[in-house]
Amino acid sequence: MKVTAFNGSPKAEQSNTDIIVKSFLEGAKSAGANIDNHYLINKNINHCNGCFSCWFKTPGQCVFNDDMNDLLEAYISSDIVCFATPVYTWNMTAALKNFADRLIPLRRPVITLSDGNYDMEARIAKFPDVVVISNCGFPGENNFDTIKEVFKTCNPVLEIYRNCGTLLRTNNPEVKVIVEKYLECVKEAGFEIVNSNISENTKTKLQMELVTPDDYTKMMNI
Ligand SMILES: Cc1cc2nc3c(=O)[nH]c(=O)nc-3n(C[C@H](O)[C@H](O)[C@H](O)COP(=O)(O)O)c2cc1C
Repeated sequence: MKVTAFNGSPKAEQSNTDIIVKSFLEGAKSAGANIDNHYLINKNINHCNGCFSCWFKTPGQCVFNDDMNDLLEAYISSDIVCFATPVYTWNMTAALKNFADRLIPLRRPVITLSDGNYDMEARIAKFPDVVVISNCGFPGENNFDTIKEVFKTCNPVLEIYRNCGTLLRTNNPEVKVIVEKYLECVKEAGFEIVNSNISENTKTKLQMELVTPDDYTKMMNI
């Protein structure tokens, strides 16, 4: 079992996203998975230029010879891929979107209809299962609405949405204890997903509140 994360935060190893991703991968590793973690901001990934050469001229092959060659290999050789991003203006970061656009060589220009949704035919035998990890700077859930909608198309096997994400690096000892508890749940999710399915108990715990929205707002507005 191979689990690979693609982190779209511009802060890479210093990101709040990375804290969640690392716990998730640690859990997956403890269940026996091979894990890999890519920081997209450090990669040379050209923007898709919409030429459709990868569909019509050189099927499956992009015109750009850049880091996407290795990243595509990492993607298709994985059983589970994790799309990870902070919320930037109610959406995924440009780095993750750029990466997602460049996955287009994995599809063929043949329209299919499945469960009422139109899509493009797969060029590969099986797409990896998808896990979504995101964190945002505000309380509440509405900041994840766009990301949830976009990733619906991939039927994610697990979605981890962490509001009040800046608390992941808190120095407040009381909050730190809660954050550690939360990260244990993320680790458990990584373990469970490799073994079978995520339990309802773990899914519920992943939504735990770190502090109340009022307290968070007060902390942030100092
Ligand atoms: C350009 C920019 C846009 C942002 N937009 C939002 C937003 O729309 N909603 C939100 O809740 N947080 C927003 N944030 C806050 C980040 O999501 C938050 O700081 C997050 O913890 C950063 O995660 P990272 O350390 O993994 O990059 C934004 C931050 C930046 C820099």
